[in-house]
Amino acid sequence: MTLSSAGTPTQYAVELQGCTKQFSTPGGGTYFAVRDIDLKVEPGRFVSIVGPTGSGKSTILNMAAGLLKPSSGTASSFGAPVHGVNRRASYMFQQDALLPWKTVIENVSLGLTMAGVGKAEAHSEAQRWLEKVGLKNFADRYPHQLSGGMRKRTAVAQAWIVNPDILLMDEPFSALDVQTRQIMENELLALWQESGKAVVFITHDLDEAIALSDEVVILGAGPGSTVVGNYEITIPRPRDLLDIRDDPKFVELHREIWGRLKIEVSKTYEAARAEEGEVA
Ligand SMILES: Nc1ncnc2c1ncn2[C@@H]1O[C@H](COP(=O)(O)OP(=O)(O)OP(=O)(O)O)[C@@H](O)[C@H]1O
Ligand SMILES: [Mg+2]
Repeated sequence: MTLSSAGTPTQYAVELQGCTKQFSTPGGGTYFAVRDIDLKVEPGRFVSIVGPTGSGKSTILNMAAGLLKPSSGTASSFGAPVHGVNRRASYMFQQDALLPWKTVIENVSLGLTMAGVGKAEAHSEAQRWLEKVGLKNFADRYPHQLSGGMRKRTAVAQAWIVNPDILLMDEPFSALDVQTRQIMENELLALWQESGKAVVFITHDLDEAIALSDEVVILGAGPGSTVVGNYEITIPRPRDLLDIRDDPKFVELHREIWGRLKIEVSKTYEAARAEEGEVA
């Protein structure tokens, strides 16, 4: 544990200490997805995790969420070990988890009604969130009547309405077209900016990671992936994501981090090619 400038111990919103996760394989063996992962996310920080496909990004998020138990090491949240689902966190999955038989407002209210809030109060709070995410007039639509961007807005409202201390986001915008994605990223930053919430954001896209984050964590190629780099993103806030890619600091950081990430991406690519060769 580290000490803050005031001399008190820092309570991390998310802390993984020496976390290893192994899975059983169908042939009776074991597969190490990640090994000895150390990750510390302070309250209010925006941290992205980037790494090649299969490097264990979702596994790490699932350990922070309490959906997966580390095989060894500890996952904790605000100083307490994570046992079962981490109640301080909301999870935004890559594929949004909207219930198709419920309307937009019912989907957004769900977290509150499940926590015992009355329907009228939950709906009025949900309507407030729908206004915030630009869906004021879509409360009574069903998910299949929405565009991809609208579904993501609904999922954002659904995650935020319960006022979590931590947002765990697994490639939340990767299925969107580039323009919608940049708008969603800008809106996410605007919501997050003054919220004091910790965000752990998974992405394949280094541009997105740098543009959004205070820190970018790079995972190495699997199996047994470890953290191979941590980079502080010192670009001042507030940031305008529509122009940030021209910022000289962005360009410099991108060059530095990509220099490291591409080694891991190449290893993953070579390993996949070798495997294809064995199969052929
Ligand atoms: N339940 C499981 N059983 C067996 N192996 C698993 C299980 N979950 C994940 N794995 C393996 O662990 C490794 C890491 O998976 P994970 O989904 O965390 O990777 P990722 O970095 O999120 O990949 P992607 O970028 O493709 O989403 C992969 O090789 C995957 O096949
Ligand atoms: Mg994943």
